[in-house]
Amino acid sequence: MDKILIHGGHPLTGSIKVSGSKNSSLPILAATLLTREPCAVQGVPDLSDTNYMVQILTYLGAQVERASGTVSVTAEKVQSVAPYDVVRKMRASVCVLGPLLGRCKEASVALPGGCVIGDRPIDLHLKGFEALGAAVRVEGGDIKIFAPKLKGAVINMEGKFGPTVLGTDNLMMAAVLADGVTVIEGAALEPEVVDLATFLMKMGAKIEGAGTRRIIIEGVAALHGAEHRVIADRIEAGTFLVAGAIAGNGITVKQVNPEHVRAVTDTLARCGYAIDIEDRAISILPNGDATALELATEPYPGFPTDMQAQMCALLSTTKGVSSITENIFPQRYMHVAELKRMGAKVHLEAATAMIEGVDCLLGAPVMASDLRASAALVLAGLKADGVTEVSRVYHIDRGYEHLDEKLSELGAQIERVKAE
Ligand code: EPZ
Repeated sequence: MDKILIHGGHPLTGSIKVSGSKNSSLPILAATLLTREPCAVQGVPDLSDTNYMVQILTYLGAQVERASGTVSVTAEKVQSVAPYDVVRKMRASVCVLGPLLGRCKEASVALPGGCVIGDRPIDLHLKGFEALGAAVRVEGGDIKIFAPKLKGAVINMEGKFGPTVLGTDNLMMAAVLADGVTVIEGAALEPEVVDLATFLMKMGAKIEGAGTRRIIIEGVAALHGAEHRVIADRIEAGTFLVAGAIAGNGITVKQVNPEHVRAVTDTLARCGYAIDIEDRAISILPNGDATALELATEPYPGFPTDMQAQMCALLSTTKGVSSITENIFPQRYMHVAELKRMGAKVHLEAATAMIEGVDCLLGAPVMASDLRASAALVLAGLKADGVTEVSRVYHIDRGYEHLDEKLSELGAQIERVKAE
């Protein structure tokens, strides 16, 4: 198992290119199960999560080839059972349910287990499938869905914590081959949902309103193969912009859609950082006088929960008292205890982190617990005095393509070493 050592205090300069989006690639790869014909998905980042999805597609019977960012899939024949051993490594495996139900009119997929970022039920997904006429039961840890015929319906996908991203994706993928018209109310607006809809429409699906709260899908008899390049990873882009705020001397993040990162750039500007936005690039300049702020995570286009931990790291050394309220995953604060090991002053009041900025953090051995928490610890290490040792970095490799290499391209003193 690897760990990452960060020698703090080395300013970042220069530019990096953002990789393709993990959270777009996963449902789009799953959607290739909806046709017998060849599909090619370009810009798929080299991550353990995308590798898991390739393994799942292969297990389900698809021919999958991968070459320099393009994943070619031909699912001529597919079987509809994905057991625990195949899906347990990645919660997002749940997004094969919709395509299998749409294509095979049945599916059996192991129920996702617990998650360190908090309670993550899939009740809205299952409610949606039932509305399309499917019989749904959970048995022996497996979700078993059966529908000789899927019939279009009006479904509200809004939950207690707002819309569901993968729930909206799953319903769209089940409804594209259903009889009649499906209307998804309370749909998620995330760019990854729009990217999936774009791919499905390239396959011949009839979809209107992706990117709005009301998506209308008119079922078709069959879908054909298609080629598609996934959007840039807006969370990776946001993570590097925060790295630029924490330890930068002026960095530029390239190959990004600035609109998708607006909530992050607006927030950094509110802190006092100078942000320069071009067509496909964003630059951030340092600001020693950055100020504290109040922040809350929201569904898109609000401030993303997947950037909350990174902002905690930044605000830990920002003068004044800041607060961040986590509205999507209220318990998503595994990084706080580790930041406190580095000298951060943070206390939690229910779903709100109160952060009193300190002059500097101190390098320490810290433990990664989940994808975004681990990125936050690396960012904190860039600013800290001394060496920060982040262990369990496999969490980082789930969602960041070559994070340590890209940071060292920007001048960070960072190395990946084998843990004893
Ligand atoms: C997606 O997860 C992302 N994952 C997550 O990113 C991201 O944090 C999340 O959306 C929110 O933006 C992928 O795209 C692969 P949700 P998803 O369903 O779809 C509740 C990362 O770091 N809910 O939108 O699983 C749920 O508990 C990952 O890259 C229900 O109550 O999240 C949460 O509170 C982590 N019932 C809220 O809705 C349901 O049936 C939003 O969750 C479904 C969700």
